[in-house]
Amino acid sequence: MKKDILGLAGKVAIVTGGAGMLGREYCRAFAEASAHVVVADLRGDAGKKYAARLNGDGTAKAIGIETDVTDKTSVQEMVNRAFERFGRVDILVNNAALDPKFDAAHADEHTNGFEDYPLELWNQSIDVDLTGMFLCAQAAGNIMVKQGSGVIVNICSTYGVVGPDQRLYEHGDEARPRTYKPITYSVTKSAVLGFTRYLATYWAGKNIRVNALTLGGVFNEHDEGFVERYSSRTPLGRMADRSEYCGALLFVASDASSYMTGANLVVDGGWTAW
Ligand SMILES: NC(=O)c1ccc[n+]([C@@H]2O[C@H](COP(=O)([O-])OP(=O)(O)OC[C@H]3O[C@@H](n4cnc5c(N)ncnc54)[C@H](O)[C@@H]3O)[C@@H](O)[C@H]2O)c1
Repeated sequence: MKKDILGLAGKVAIVTGGAGMLGREYCRAFAEASAHVVVADLRGDAGKKYAARLNGDGTAKAIGIETDVTDKTSVQEMVNRAFERFGRVDILVNNAALDPKFDAAHADEHTNGFEDYPLELWNQSIDVDLTGMFLCAQAAGNIMVKQGSGVIVNICSTYGVVGPDQRLYEHGDEARPRTYKPITYSVTKSAVLGFTRYLATYWAGKNIRVNALTLGGVFNEHDEGFVERYSSRTPLGRMADRSEYCGALLFVASDASSYMTGANLVVDGGWTAW
């Protein structure tokens, strides 16, 4: 076995939604493995600020690029800039998505059940979660095909594998409106798995590996009741810490998973086993 099983030093990784809660963790993990990082996010300033922080320790180079993954021109410009800066694109992490949050700050959002779910919100999620993934894989994939290598990781959720348990979102407080995990999240995340299998087989023989990484819920200042309901539904008995997916991410993004493509790595505290 190779001593440096990851072999990420000097590799170039693009992380979409890189300024978000989990995106930042992934960018830091790549930087700590001495990969160069592109923090691609709609919130350009946050991405640039975070890239500057990563550059602080000097082992890896990071750049932040304002990117709207729903916009073909913006995505192409981001990939062009990454290529001009580093001369290659080895890894794409399709992480940007509209992830409906249920922490204290967003506790009373997501009150639309399926029957009255607005078409506008449906279209918005399809745009960011799916069209975004399509445009980024297309732009980065073109470079990967030319350079004869590449790895794409598509971020999925347990709700792409099983249906949401809506009882989790029943807070029981009659003074507040009932909340739901929306239809869009399940639909777009399920599609991530088909998208992954399509690209893995489409690029068969091209040395481009494409896998999905499925995650369970991360603790983010949710109220006690939610944490209790989530934890009792999880074999490991708790929500994930935001740092707990970095090992899996580095595995699927690196040579450590060199014989893996078209697969779905599930890291969910056992949620989907129950
Ligand atoms: N947080 C969880 O518990 C959890 C669980 C399972 C899966 N996931 C998945 O992990 C990924 C990241 O989740 P998170 O919790 O870090 O979310 P987050 O909301 O903290 O981060 C998402 C990031 O995407 C960016 N973004 C939104 N629209 C964009 C666009 N059009 N173009 C470019 N960037 C855009 C946002 O600015 C934000 O920085 C998502 O795919 C999510 O579905 C999260």
